[in-house]
Amino acid sequence: MEVPEYRVRDPGLASRGRVSIEWAEMHMPVLMRLRRMYSSEKPLEGVRVGACLHVTKETAVLVRTLREWGAEVYLAASNPLSTQDDVAAALAAEGVHVYAWRGMSGEEYWWAIRTVASARPQIVIDDGGDLHATLHRDMVEVAKSVVGGTEETTTGVIRLRALEREGRLMYPVFAVNDALTKFLFDNRYGTGQSTVDGILRATNILIAGKVAVVAGYGWVGRGVALRLRGMGARVIVTEVDPIRALEAVMDGFTVMSMEEAARVGDIFVTATGNINVINSRHFKAMKDGAILANAGHFNVEVNVRELEEMAVEKRVVRPNVTEYRLPDGRRLYLLAEGRLVNLVAAEGHPSEVMDMSFANQALAVLRLSREGKKLEPRVYRVPREQDEMVARLKLESMGIKIDELTEEQKKYLESWAY
Ligand code: NAD
Ligand code: ADE
Repeated sequence: MEVPEYRVRDPGLASRGRVSIEWAEMHMPVLMRLRRMYSSEKPLEGVRVGACLHVTKETAVLVRTLREWGAEVYLAASNPLSTQDDVAAALAAEGVHVYAWRGMSGEEYWWAIRTVASARPQIVIDDGGDLHATLHRDMVEVAKSVVGGTEETTTGVIRLRALEREGRLMYPVFAVNDALTKFLFDNRYGTGQSTVDGILRATNILIAGKVAVVAGYGWVGRGVALRLRGMGARVIVTEVDPIRALEAVMDGFTVMSMEEAARVGDIFVTATGNINVINSRHFKAMKDGAILANAGHFNVEVNVRELEEMAVEKRVVRPNVTEYRLPDGRRLYLLAEGRLVNLVAAEGHPSEVMDMSFANQALAVLRLSREGKKLEPRVYRVPREQDEMVARLKLESMGIKIDELTEEQKKYLESWAY
């Protein structure tokens, strides 16, 4: 398959993209420090990295870091609507092989992923698992030469663990999502803030006084619920896991089934990583004017096909807001076509939180380049020391000092005989 140099919406946007990337660099001190730490060593000299990530200013900071360390980078978008076209143009102008533009068709999306795979990367970075799946399903010969990979998000890690369970995983993968300095901050505070940002940019509604329904009380759901409550919404949580449901109750949220919540919600946000969480049964019960948004990785949580089938009329009323009129005259408003609202209607997580996620990505890539060939094809957690290093660097960048255990305290904590 032919691998073009790059394909972006408009190369003329490069200078605007460069300024945007500089803004992100200013707010990503940990990743910038790591970049400087290893830049003279060039640990990735001669390494081809293939990545499938949301093409944002924060991703650009990661890509620039990998290139500073010597890597050649091939980059595809991990969602057809999340690419920041100016950033893609800036990266292309710098020599990154980027295949991404906002509004790619399904066919173009998969073409870009296959193009990255065709470059025969030794290291693969993915967000959601589509690049890993393509390598395992359609490009097995290429997968055989992959030294190792990483995965950015919960949904991608779930898919990789399924491959591992079936004994089909072909290379070692670091589950970057499962690093404490990733999911506790990125999934919770990053998605929490940027999801509300996406809803506001799309709709400009007042959150105060609204009834918001959050489906899923995992790391993303609890961040979204927390931030919506912070802005004055009355928040209802729906769950399938009794322990998480109980946590939501004791965190002060109202918990009920989606069947019940559908009748009372003004704003719905799905954050489950699961399919068909809001469907025709719920659409039938919803109030006129209800707003539907998704923060989970794939556009499968709100059943858009059923909404399309039920609707008698459909129109775009604002950017990223589609109105569906139902036969009885009620109108439902779907944001961002049911795709990740924070990346489509806003800019994704703020740079400060991607700083830690992408510091973990960079360190995982470094580890793979050094040790990947010795690792079994399994899904690995990032080592505790890496997590602690990222946390310490982040605290340092914020000017925050913490205490250290004294020798006396260490001994006390290790003994049983007081
Ligand atoms: P998680 O596993 O911590 O939480 C998911 C929760 O959803 C679980 O508690 C589960 O019990 C619940 N759930 C599953 N099916 C449900 C259903 N039918 N109804 C109600 N609850 C249900 O996962 P997470 O880290 O919170 O991630 C959730 C999704 O968000 C994933 O797809 C992940 O990849 C994605 N994600 C998106 C962003 C973003 O930028 N938008 C960032 C991080 C993660
Ligand atoms: N995922 C969520 N927010 C993101 C961002 N700003 N950049 C890249 N990936 C993201």
